[in-house]
Amino acid sequence: ETASKEGYPHFMIKEIHESPRAVKDTIDSLMSDIDLVEKVIEEIKNAERVIVIGAGTSYHAGLYFSIELNRLGINSLPIIASEYYNVRSKKGDLVFAISQSGETIDVLQGIRMMRNSGAKIISLTNVIESAIARESDYKIYMRAGPEIGVAATKTFTTQLASILFILSVLKKENLKKMEKAPDIVRDTISQVEGLTKKIGEELAKKSNIYYLGRGLSLPLAMEGALKIKEIAYVHAEAYPAGESKHGPISLVEKGFPVVIINDGELTELLQNNLMEMKARGAKIYAISVNKKMKDADVEIELQSEIPALSIAPVIQLIAYYAAVTKGYDPDKPRNLAKTVTVE
Ligand code: G6P
Repeated sequence: ETASKEGYPHFMIKEIHESPRAVKDTIDSLMSDIDLVEKVIEEIKNAERVIVIGAGTSYHAGLYFSIELNRLGINSLPIIASEYYNVRSKKGDLVFAISQSGETIDVLQGIRMMRNSGAKIISLTNVIESAIARESDYKIYMRAGPEIGVAATKTFTTQLASILFILSVLKKENLKKMEKAPDIVRDTISQVEGLTKKIGEELAKKSNIYYLGRGLSLPLAMEGALKIKEIAYVHAEAYPAGESKHGPISLVEKGFPVVIINDGELTELLQNNLMEMKARGAKIYAISVNKKMKDADVEIELQSEIPALSIAPVIQLIAYYAAVTKGYDPDKPRNLAKTVTVE
C-alpha cells in the first residue's frame, strides 16, 4: 500500500475526515463545468423517465436522487443494479448510473442493456475514464480522490453533494448554499465525534438494530444500516418508519436499539414511530437535523442547511466506532471487495 494513513489509525476515519475537502473539490469541479451540468439537466427535463441505477452505497445515493426527481414531477425509477434485467427500457429513457469505482459489473450490464434499447446514459463516477464512464454519453466526475477503505465514506458524501448540486441548478436555486457544503460537512464532523463514538460503542454490543427513516431520510437510514452491518458485523435493517408497524415492530422488546434518522422534514410522523417503538421498550437513538425529537434516549442534534450532508458523516462515524470497539479492521471487512466485478 503506497497510500498513507497520515497519522489516522485507519483509512476509513482518515477518509471521513477528508470528506469536506472531497466535497469542495467536487463542487468546484461541477461549478467550473457548469455547461456539462446544464446539458445533463436538459436531458433530465426532456427524458420520459430517468432510471437511476447503482449498487450498495451508490444505490442509496441514487435512491435519494430518484426521490427528489419524483418530487419535482420528473418521472424516475430507482433500480438496484443487480436487478437490472427487470427493467424494460426504451428510447426516451435516460439512465443515471452512479458508481464510485465506475467498474461494478451489474451497473455496466444494466447500462449496456438499456443503451441497446435506445436509452441515453449519464454516469457519476469517481474514476476518470472508468468502464462505466467510457460507456456513457455524459460523464460527471466526483473529485473525492482515491478511497482505500472498502466501505464507501467520502465517496458517498461526494455522490450526495454532486446530486444536490445538480438538483440545485435544476431548481434554479442560488448556488451559495452549495458553496457552503464543505463547511457544513466539516462543522458536523467536529461536533459529533464524541457522541458518535458513544453510540458506536453501545451499538457494538447489540446483535440487531433498526434504522428508520421517512422520505429523504430513508436512503440515509439504509446507508446507516449497511455501513454498520458491513464493518461492525451487527445485523442492521433499515425500514421506512411507517412501514415498521407491518412486521419489524414485533421484534422490539426492552433495550432493542432503534436509530431514527430525522432530517427535519417529517419529524412529526417520525415522532409517532418513535413513541410506538419506545412503548415496546426500544432504546431510541435519534439523529436529528434542524428539528428535535421528544423522548429519544440519545439524540445527536444538528443545525444544517443541507441535512443529508450532515447525516452522511454521522452514520459513517457511528459504524466506524462500532467496528473498532469490536476490534475489527474497518478498512478490510471480511468477505467484501472494494469493487465487485462478477455478477
Ligand atoms: C462494493 C463496495 C461498496 C460499494 C459497492 C458499489 O460492495 O464494498 O462500498 O458501495 O461495491 O460500488 P461502486 O464502485 O459501484 O460505487
